[in-house]
Amino acid sequence: MNQMIFSLCLIFSFSLLAAPKKFVTVDESVLSSVNKSQKVLKSKDGIALIQLSENEIDQLANKIHDELHRCGGFMAHDSEAEALGIFENNGEKSWAQKGFFDLYQISQQSIVKPMLNQVEEIEIRETIKKLSSYQNRFYKAETGSQSQNWIKEKWSALISKRNDASVELYKHASWPQPSVILTITGSELPNEIIVLGGHADSIAGMFGGASAKAPGADDNASGIATITETIRVLMSNGFQPKKTLKFMAYAAEEVGLLGSKEIANDFKKKGLKVNGVIQLDMTNFKGSPDLDIVMMTDYTNRAQNEFLGKIIDEYVKVPWGYSKCGYACSDHASWTNAGYPASMPFEATMEQMNRDIHTARDVIEKSGGTADHAFKFAQMAVAYIVEMAH
Ligand code: BES
Ligand code: ZN
Repeated sequence: MNQMIFSLCLIFSFSLLAAPKKFVTVDESVLSSVNKSQKVLKSKDGIALIQLSENEIDQLANKIHDELHRCGGFMAHDSEAEALGIFENNGEKSWAQKGFFDLYQISQQSIVKPMLNQVEEIEIRETIKKLSSYQNRFYKAETGSQSQNWIKEKWSALISKRNDASVELYKHASWPQPSVILTITGSELPNEIIVLGGHADSIAGMFGGASAKAPGADDNASGIATITETIRVLMSNGFQPKKTLKFMAYAAEEVGLLGSKEIANDFKKKGLKVNGVIQLDMTNFKGSPDLDIVMMTDYTNRAQNEFLGKIIDEYVKVPWGYSKCGYACSDHASWTNAGYPASMPFEATMEQMNRDIHTARDVIEKSGGTADHAFKFAQMAVAYIVEMAH
């Protein structure tokens, strides 16, 4: 008996010491070139299911990078069920069949490069100024719905010449502020979706309420203005995506990611296939002297983060790095929690963030009165969309 208690304790303390392994799906060709001896739990369509510790995942990423000179090629999953979902194909080509590398290739230079010169700082600046001129964009305030209507009209004007695009107000049952969604239907793979989003609401402190002044120029008129400019450049070039594009201005982020949570869960419930989500939340305050774009590593997809880094190197040519929020700080977490690959390229490291957000001081003057920093994010977003939608 004593012996049994002893061994139970041993097992218990070991399981406390050893962090649980994660389920990882990986390209079989990658696995065989970097780690032949790895135990494979399932294998189908060129994809293997394996289990790795956090450390081993880091080692795998480094090996792929150093030995194959590629990024990604694998995905870590929170549960076995989620990992097994990668092998399902519902009659279409699954991600597994296509391989992860196809998704993260850069090949559209001839289309992207001319577009980059058309990104206009003044367009971004004017949208930031307009949105921050509302008293606030609080989810329960009248002005919080008025500003969403303004975004809807602005986006509608940008797609007025197209018959494959529409803008809708996405209504939420529990509060008045709607989200705004612009859809451009893909010409070849309409069931594959790319999401570029940011929250449109603003808030003043914890108890700001519906009347306090909350210009939210950086948090997050900057993200919405960056998205708006991305749409403008794509549309003025008559860009025709093969996959479906969805641009989103979420409601009620500042009170718990509420708008994006409803939308992401709705997509999951409907079984919609989202290839990638980018969250733009705060793009116009250059807080880090040595870095222009900072990928948040938590609640995000590592392979897509690395791909965004490649996009920046190829097209934007500014210094980028990594940081972390340390909690579910914005709408990318809603998508990650629903099982979709999301990234959050941010304006600075967490330590060097804009300290005036959520106050009446969050105005464009804090960023020198220009949209120079957000400009880089718009170039990145144009490039990401063109490469992903291909
Ligand atoms: N834009 C912020 C998130 C943020 C702040 C990211 C600073 C990185 C640095 C976002 O609008 C926000 O305020 N989020 C809330 C959390 C949410 C769950 C209510 C926050 O950070 O308190
Ligand atoms: Zn905020």
